[in-house]
Amino acid sequence: MNILILGSGGREYSIGLAIKKENQHNLFFMPGNGATSNLGTNINIKDYNELALWAKNNQIDLTIVGPEAPLVDGVVDIFKQHNLTIFGPSAAAAKLEGSKVYMKNILKKYNIPTAAFLETNNQDEAFAFIDTMNIPIVVKADGLCAGKGVIIAQSKDEAKEAVRDMLSGASFGEAGSNVVIEEFLDGYELSVFAICDGDNYKILPAAQDHKRIGDGDTGPNTGGMGAYAPTPLVNDEIYKKVEERVIKPTLEGMKKEGAPYEGVLFIGVMVVKGEPIILEYNVRFGDPECEILMPLLQTPVSELFYKGATKDLDSLDIKIKDEFAVGVVMASANYPYSNSEPAEIIVDTIVDEEILNHTHISYAGVEKQEEKLFATGGRVLVCVGLGKSIKQARDRAYSLCGQVHFAGKKCRTDIAYQALK
Ligand code: AMP
Ligand code: GLY
Repeated sequence: MNILILGSGGREYSIGLAIKKENQHNLFFMPGNGATSNLGTNINIKDYNELALWAKNNQIDLTIVGPEAPLVDGVVDIFKQHNLTIFGPSAAAAKLEGSKVYMKNILKKYNIPTAAFLETNNQDEAFAFIDTMNIPIVVKADGLCAGKGVIIAQSKDEAKEAVRDMLSGASFGEAGSNVVIEEFLDGYELSVFAICDGDNYKILPAAQDHKRIGDGDTGPNTGGMGAYAPTPLVNDEIYKKVEERVIKPTLEGMKKEGAPYEGVLFIGVMVVKGEPIILEYNVRFGDPECEILMPLLQTPVSELFYKGATKDLDSLDIKIKDEFAVGVVMASANYPYSNSEPAEIIVDTIVDEEILNHTHISYAGVEKQEEKLFATGGRVLVCVGLGKSIKQARDRAYSLCGQVHFAGKKCRTDIAYQALK
């Protein structure tokens, strides 16, 4: 097949790498990054109608969408109007991520367990609700805020200030014109992914992300500094509860809403006393979760996404490798505060067979100049290790980290600690 992947991060690189390993497809990336051009061809057509025409003219058989923004903007609807096969939710279904108010109302309407909440655009109503709550109090901007729209307030005053700044437009502009105020859930967090075709789904091994910049979960939030899967914190009972109480009612509910859910459903779960409670939905893979899930799939990734895009998941018996994967993000010096100077990336020639055979790099914030790769800031790459245990996978991932060099590189040293405690 000719396969087009939209996006430019480590997530899109990892999908491309998994498909490249199948050895039978041609890959195109829009826009891709400095390393995806080693897997296929980067193209740069930003207008979705033009891109759909390009896809038609170039016999693209399958398009896979990485990030949320094009989904919320309706790229899937546009491609379908051109009779193209594309894996991802329609704009209507992508509202599950595009609007937290919409998402919370769907959860409530279909009885899916979630934190008690109030949604409002009225400050007095918000303050009155806050006065009834225990601390901490969680305040969320309705719209997309690149992962920054959630405030965990440690006092009622702080919660009110967050509400005031959101509703006035001061903190997130239009995205903050509605807010969700909700109770704080105390438990452990999971990332659960279901590949959906509107009716059927395939669940992937549960992962844990590491959102804070510093070891021991300290410092500011980031897009994610590392992930591992499958996590031993999940047993069959929790998977079953997530399927029965969350995934099935969501697929049924979205059909009733006239927005059947096709694509990756990313379920942010907080497990509180053994019960999975939904924090949020995203309508795409997590990053860096994708980078560790792709190599765990034994089923060809292209087949999984193609069947997802053509309402044919029922016919697929999904196979997962009997292994663990750990991904350690290497970021630039100033991440997540500000940009960093471009820095050349040098990867030592790896001679150790164990590292060679059980690790790889998934590239994200990189640019190619005269055949050299430069870190361009943010999250630069993910070192992925695979193994028969989490410890083995982690040791391999960190061995690889030791072989990768660029000025100002930084990574957490404790990825997967929750599983090794
Ligand atoms: P969200 O974008 O809604 O997933 O929120 C970002 C992060 O904030 C989550 O990954 C959690 O770590 C935290 N968070 C969000 N909502 C809650 C909540 N109700 N209770 C505790 N932590 C939360
Ligand atoms: N790693 C979390 C996310 O992609 O939102």
